[in-house]
Amino acid sequence: MMQFQGSHILSVAQFDREAVSRILDVAKLMIPYASRQKRCHVLEGAILNNLFFEPSTRTRVSFGTAFQLLGGFVHETVGQESSSLSKGESLFDTARVISGYADVIAMRHPTMHSVSEFAEGSTVPVINGGDGANEHPTQALLDLFTIRAEMARFGKGIDDLNIVLMGDLKHGRTVHSLSKLLSLYDNLNITLLSPEALQMPTSVIDSLENAGHKITITDKMAGNLQSDVVYQTRIQQERFSSKEEADQYRGHFSLNKQVYEQYCQQHTVIMHPLPRDSRPEANELDVDLNDHNNLAIFRQAQNGVLVRMALFALTLGVDEILHKHEKPVTWFSNKQLSE
Ligand code: NCD
Repeated sequence: MMQFQGSHILSVAQFDREAVSRILDVAKLMIPYASRQKRCHVLEGAILNNLFFEPSTRTRVSFGTAFQLLGGFVHETVGQESSSLSKGESLFDTARVISGYADVIAMRHPTMHSVSEFAEGSTVPVINGGDGANEHPTQALLDLFTIRAEMARFGKGIDDLNIVLMGDLKHGRTVHSLSKLLSLYDNLNITLLSPEALQMPTSVIDSLENAGHKITITDKMAGNLQSDVVYQTRIQQERFSSKEEADQYRGHFSLNKQVYEQYCQQHTVIMHPLPRDSRPEANELDVDLNDHNNLAIFRQAQNGVLVRMALFALTLGVDEILHKHEKPVTWFSNKQLSE
């Protein structure tokens, strides 16, 4: 079994199926705390440093919320311009210093593999919140948690599913990490739907094929959306050389109510890591599906808190003693979480 305590979480390649299952199970234990039925300040006094050198809403805020729900303090640095990296300091030095101030660090950076480089200098666990187009392991775990929770409604598990990954598969780090995690499961039918120029990197396709999954690569929605899950992604404009280049690919795979009814199955669950581009010209995931029960995108974002709480509990070695720290919640709350 993987040793979580004291470990960095940098890539999904670190996990086997047993480790993933442990993370998802601990995430489930967090439901009463995240939904404010009970509180659990097992990390009281611990400090998280959130270092976000690239735009983020969900990942940064949910890392912070997760840590605070477990009773810890959160310190935030946002944007390279506000850190000494802009004075030429190396990632190693920044890590060595910041890790002296914190018990755990969550980091996002625009350069591929930079979070691993940073982790080499850190004396405390570092959790990758996204390193350029490379990986986004915590997103992949929350995606998998969501797939498991949503499929349970239909009496299904993760094995044997039909899953469509659609959009900018070349630059989207969430689909890279998710695909690698899906390689741990059995007998999946995976459709990679993207413009030809934005296809999934071959290394990721190889890992899916080596797992024995059936892979379909296509640029057509018609006939290819009859699946258990459709996971849509945003055109990652910031990874193109110009906005004009990114614009060429907008609107190719607009998913709206009419497309859903025409091409999807009645039970197809729609996922998206968010943010979706809601400007009308983006033509991405339409708001006309907002009331659809199978639109899982907001449940998915909520699940991020559970999975990040689980990773903090595991890396800081408190996953076995949660119940000892339970206290009642004394304020009004009407939160409800799935599963
Ligand atoms: C994603 C990311 O940053 O990779 N967002 C997220 O963390 N949920 C997806 C995206 O930006 O399109």
